Amino acid sequence: MVDLPDVRARDSKGLAKSFRYFGEIETPRMDCDTYTVFSLGIAGDDELLAMASEIDTGQPAPNVFYASVQDLLLEDPKRGPSAEALARFYPAISGGPIPEESPWPAFRTFCLAHRETLAPKLREGRTQTCVVHRCAIVLPALASLPRVAEAHGRVGLLEIGPSAGLNLRLDRYRYEYHGAAGSDVVWGERRARPVLRCEVRGDVHPPLPTSLEIVARRGLDLNVIDLEDPLALRWLRALIWPEHTERARLMDEALAHAATVPIEIEQGDAIRELEDQIAKLPIDAPRVLFATHVVYQIPRAGLLAMLDSIARASRQVPVDLVIMESTGKGDSRVDHLAFEDGERKGRRVLAHCDSHGRWIEWGRQA
Ligand SMILES: C[S@@+](CC[C@H](N)C(=O)[O-])C[C@H]1O[C@@H](n2cnc3c(N)ncnc32)[C@H](O)[C@@H]1O
Repeated sequence: MVDLPDVRARDSKGLAKSFRYFGEIETPRMDCDTYTVFSLGIAGDDELLAMASEIDTGQPAPNVFYASVQDLLLEDPKRGPSAEALARFYPAISGGPIPEESPWPAFRTFCLAHRETLAPKLREGRTQTCVVHRCAIVLPALASLPRVAEAHGRVGLLEIGPSAGLNLRLDRYRYEYHGAAGSDVVWGERRARPVLRCEVRGDVHPPLPTSLEIVARRGLDLNVIDLEDPLALRWLRALIWPEHTERARLMDEALAHAATVPIEIEQGDAIRELEDQIAKLPIDAPRVLFATHVVYQIPRAGLLAMLDSIARASRQVPVDLVIMESTGKGDSRVDHLAFEDGERKGRRVLAHCDSHGRWIEWGRQA
């Protein structure tokens, strides 16, 4: 049994534990050797731990630390010899493969040389990823909702915590599900991009919509990412880990035609503003809310307040909620909660999956 760190701790001992856990459990799981080396190095380095203590307690410290460093490199990879030495370990910047040698000396030297410039990024940085591949999990979840199936795929969507909102355009992407019982299934226009490949584990193939008509694409986020803002876009890229070049490519493909499918994201706190936002969805299509890797950023009392407000909104029209969230055991789980007549009517586990949507095991409960 792994001893989980307190991700809010900012004292040296607590932070060291967070970074060590990150390097021993999280980064190997996500195939990122570079961040494994950084994490284990920081865990034993008082000067870098002191820098990390600036990070907001509501944010996962390793993610914000590494995004701040990469953001500074993306801003100017030639800002000095230490930047040039470190940039070689980021294929998105260097354009080449990651060198064999350890990136730790270059990383540590860069961090200490740019301590002052990094400080505001560390203080203000937020983990606002937008993982397009998670659409491969949301798509079957939508297909599994009885109300959506009855409406022949017509649906009004409200995403809680959409970040840049790329996943509100999930019907415009192409999907390839490989695996279950030897069957491969594709969904979406042949020329649609990005193509999201997802391994199907277990015996049950995830359901896919026979038709899907998204009549509203709305979002509510504490921090809206404006795709017209180059600094916001740079931060989005800085959050992508060095080894994850495929993820960067998928995001770029989604960004390339984002402007052709309008969405509406409002700035606000889902804990307080969800009911008003639900009321803005059309009344003549099933209302579906979804949140992928957002709930971990919301305190428990806030989550309960959100569920209450969804229940209240369901007095007018039923509401379905799909949540994809980490189990804390190396995978994620997809839950469906149905609300009707002012009450929560049920909860079911739809699937377990990879946190980035690279595999799905439909119907697995435990
Ligand atoms: C880790 S990102 C995930 C983004 C996206 N859902 C994805 O799967 O890639 C979490 C997002 O949730 C937003 N968020 C966190 N707490 C929130 C709240 N109380 N109300 C609205 N948005 C929130 C953050 O601003 C951020 O954009």
